Amino acid sequence: MIPIAKPLIGKEEKEAILRVLDSGCLAQGSEVEAFEKEFADFCNANYAVATSSGTTALHLALLSLGIGVGDEIITTPFSFIASSNSILYIGAKPVFCDIDEKTFNIDPAKIEKLVTEKTKAILPVHLYGQPADMPRILDIAKNHNLKIIEDACQAHGAKINGQLVGRFGDAACFSFYPTKNMTTGEGGVVLFKDRKAYEKAVMIRAHGMKVRYHHEILGYNFRMTDIQASIGREQLKKLPNFNKRRQTNAKFFFDNITNPKIKLPKIKKRYEHVFHQFTIMVENRDDVIKKLTEVDIGTGIHYPICINEQPLYKSLGYKANLSIGRRVANKVLSIPVHPSLSKNDLRHIVRAINNL
Ligand SMILES: Cc1ncc(COP(=O)(O)O)c(C=O)c1O
Repeated sequence: MIPIAKPLIGKEEKEAILRVLDSGCLAQGSEVEAFEKEFADFCNANYAVATSSGTTALHLALLSLGIGVGDEIITTPFSFIASSNSILYIGAKPVFCDIDEKTFNIDPAKIEKLVTEKTKAILPVHLYGQPADMPRILDIAKNHNLKIIEDACQAHGAKINGQLVGRFGDAACFSFYPTKNMTTGEGGVVLFKDRKAYEKAVMIRAHGMKVRYHHEILGYNFRMTDIQASIGREQLKKLPNFNKRRQTNAKFFFDNITNPKIKLPKIKKRYEHVFHQFTIMVENRDDVIKKLTEVDIGTGIHYPICINEQPLYKSLGYKANLSIGRRVANKVLSIPVHPSLSKNDLRHIVRAINNL
């Protein structure tokens, strides 16, 4: 079976883990500090705070930017649920803005009419590895004095006009879950522009303390371990090559999938997509999944239900009122694009899709 995702772990990561185990420092220590610096440098960012997951990175970013109970944050309904649940965690209200059918990302043309007196921030997601329309989102945020939190959990290394994601917003969050473009097992990181927000995040990550056992504010245990960070440091060195292979695999699909029943993803001009997922649109999805499974090709649905239509959100009073998100959710299908694919795998996938 060709899996839909496969982390690539080499001897470098294994040696790094052993180095940490031998050091006796298993929790947050010098490896985390080094990883933060290296990740911030890679993204050209001012400050980085490593966390236990992408979800805690989002939660921490919102807490550190001073957003809280009763505030509204405009976000996309078409994402993994963590991007919106992080808003619920802090007692704020996610306000869902429908997506652009071509890019699957939040539609900037629809954001402005959702802004109210309570709106404090916009939380775009760079879905599947393609950046959201940050130039237009930045303009809207500036006009209404809103903060921006980028959910870059699927977009390590993606760019707009040569500028890396993670530098557009007041904060940007990444996930290092094993299916992502680079991994630490579980893990995440928040990048900040502002020193004050960064310092607050460092405190909140460790139970609100600067000095050991002196707790100034309410905090959590959102820490990454040195074991995770040591894997991340090795993966970060490999990330440019991993992304290149994902892009080469995607190009093979663009050049060779000719079946008119398949809608291929659209990439915006001057946007560098890093293909966390290669997601096509099909009319008869169950049938396509069945046929691809029969020839040992794994697939994934990212995501079958928009967040505003999830049972949790329905119970909170949200309605199924976003027609583009809903239409897309019924048709999307991700096929393997990860760097472990061989030329034979790629040819097999193309043949199977062209024969549908
Ligand atoms: C868009 C998006 N946001 C947030 C997350 C949460 O990250 P994690 O699974 O590391 O908590 C993910 C990862 O699955 C994601 O894809």
